[in-house]
Amino acid sequence: MIAFQNVTKTYRVMRRQAGFGRAVKALFSREYETIRALDNMSFTVNDGEIVGYIGPNGAGKSTTVKILCGILTPDSGTCRINGRVPWRERLAHTREIGVVFGQRTQLWWDVPVIDSFELLRDMYRVEPACYQKNLDALVELLDLGTLLRTPARTLSLGQRMRCELAASLLHDPKTLFLDVNCRIA
Ligand SMILES: Nc1ncnc2c1ncn2[C@@H]1O[C@H](COP(=O)(O)OP(=O)(O)OP(=O)(O)O)[C@@H](O)[C@H]1O
Ligand SMILES: [Mg+2]
Repeated sequence: MIAFQNVTKTYRVMRRQAGFGRAVKALFSREYETIRALDNMSFTVNDGEIVGYIGPNGAGKSTTVKILCGILTPDSGTCRINGRVPWRERLAHTREIGVVFGQRTQLWWDVPVIDSFELLRDMYRVEPACYQKNLDALVELLDLGTLLRTPARTLSLGQRMRCELAASLLHDPKTLFLDVNCRIA
């Protein structure tokens, strides 16, 4: 179960005007602006539920997912996933979640996809039998056959996303987060 309650998250960003003179000036006096990415956000997701999280660009979706994964800490509010606070018990939490970030890859760029999978297996300490069972099931479900021997950098976007999805599920996570933007035509 995910309980996300009254979460606020701000970013502090440096602002400066264009131009060399302004760049030099900015070295001595910096102007900061505070961006409120999440403002008192709350939701609950029960076990077994599949939830879509939609909003315009810049609405705070990725910020939410990063907090749920324990990558970011909120300014205020609380979050518990299966009883854990993600950013406080990050290691234990990470073993129980899978995540796909559309603009980041968890695949080693220059090596065949299967090598990345085996690296993830070792990082997550997945039992060999469990790894093989999950790999076989994912290869069939996502039709990864020939892709496994292909270096990630040569895959098309769709092929890579299928491999990313498999990579995020190899360690049997209880919860899966997909931060993948799509356009609705
Ligand atoms: N690391 C950062 N530093 C400063 N501001 C940030 C940072 N990350 C996000 N923001 C700002 O926080 C706001 C929310 O960004 P976020 O990436 O969470 O939105 P999003 O809903 O995922 O958008 P998109 O649909 O474009 O992926 C935006 O205004 C963005 O500019
Ligand atoms: Mg995003």
